[in-house]
Amino acid sequence: MVDHNKSTSAPAPADSGERFSKSGFIFAAIGSAVGLGNMWKFPYITGKYGGAAFFLMFTVCLLAVGLPVLMAELTLGRAGRGSVSTSFNRLTKRKGWGALGFLMILAPFLILSFYSVVAGWTMYYAARSFSGQLFSNSDYSGQFSSFIGSWQPVWWMLLALVLTAAVIIKGVSAGIEKFNKILIPGLVILLLVLVVRSLTLDGAAEGVSFFLSPDFGKLSAESALVALGHAFFSLSLGMGTMITYGAYVDKRQSLGAGTMAIGLGDLLYAFLAGLIIFPTSFAFGIEPGEGPGLVFVALPAAFAAMPLGSLFGGLFFILLAFAALTSTVGLLEVPVAFACERFGWSRGLSVTAITVLLFILGIPSAISVGGAVDGWQFGEKTFFDWMDFICSNILLPLGGLIVTVFVGWVWKHAADEAGLTSGWFRIWIFMVRYIAPILVVLVLLYSAGALDFLF
Ligand code: PFF
Repeated sequence: MVDHNKSTSAPAPADSGERFSKSGFIFAAIGSAVGLGNMWKFPYITGKYGGAAFFLMFTVCLLAVGLPVLMAELTLGRAGRGSVSTSFNRLTKRKGWGALGFLMILAPFLILSFYSVVAGWTMYYAARSFSGQLFSNSDYSGQFSSFIGSWQPVWWMLLALVLTAAVIIKGVSAGIEKFNKILIPGLVILLLVLVVRSLTLDGAAEGVSFFLSPDFGKLSAESALVALGHAFFSLSLGMGTMITYGAYVDKRQSLGAGTMAIGLGDLLYAFLAGLIIFPTSFAFGIEPGEGPGLVFVALPAAFAAMPLGSLFGGLFFILLAFAALTSTVGLLEVPVAFACERFGWSRGLSVTAITVLLFILGIPSAISVGGAVDGWQFGEKTFFDWMDFICSNILLPLGGLIVTVFVGWVWKHAADEAGLTSGWFRIWIFMVRYIAPILVVLVLLYSAGALDFLF
């Protein structure tokens, strides 16, 4: 069933026996899923698309479509036991799949180049908050613009990349697994402290009801497509991470149970993030649909107005930085596994070479949001916006489509690897064959503007 003849010049990390422990895999996958998507993007799109109604759509998309696709990626990865394109090649003799798999190696590389910019912003804000400098001047919007308008984001991005590289260089169990096992419990503690703080603010109830009492009149086809796209981003789908992580999972581990744990962990995290951001915003009269500046511009104002604000603000940005770094490691592992396998490079060389390339590619993103090359606009989008758009709106749904078509239609042995009962298998494969690809194509068409006439 597994065709090893097609393996490439050097063993993939998974071939050389790199494996997660059972709990290590769950921690690492939840770490990848939980990230800036949950704390930075989710709140402002939820604010924009109607609060609770959007959260409901997101939940439905995540459970009904996200989980089956996540299960498909993990199954494919564990059966292929290679970097993404090799895993495809090993599971079918049909030509072209390895090249399509390559797209899913390119996507995380490109994402990382701008995701690490935002990760850098969070570390800068954590440092400024703890030192109190953030609160010494109440013009938060001015502070944010002067920071992103300078060259400083380049150095903070470099710090994010170097921290990520330092974890990945240590390998799967001593690096990725250990890092996540330390950071995730820290993340949960910080999250709970901040939930208690925000729910006990005067005026918190209004924010809770915005987030949790749905107004079904606000549901629209557009918000459903945005919710689906975000469910994919949030579960790290379509970008090779879950396929690569799947390659390090022990054969005895249940992928069904793992999928549930990762999906529910991600959802719970988004829920708790909402319980921090919306009550805090409402308590201080901040518009939650504010946009990408919400957590960097609006929330500092809220922290400044609360007792021990610089402590809570610092904790909040540390939380964001932890969440970002457990995701950046998942992104970097994808091209690193590929380079080790395809070029026969050592892990150290692969990590170093890719990190240098990422740093170079990240510079235009770091200085294009209000910075030196902000004026380089193509079609009203900055370099940063284009990277985000190409990755999140095109490469990611395309990756999702490739996986669902492959697992649903091309690869004939998904059932053997998945280890589901026949009832669950039928539900899963039905979703993977029919529902997920159709919905993903709709997201792609929507992103390409082909459905604009409907909205
Ligand atoms: N899931 C992460 C988030 O929500 O921030 C983003 C992400 C990480 C996407 C890793 C893809 C990935 F491979």
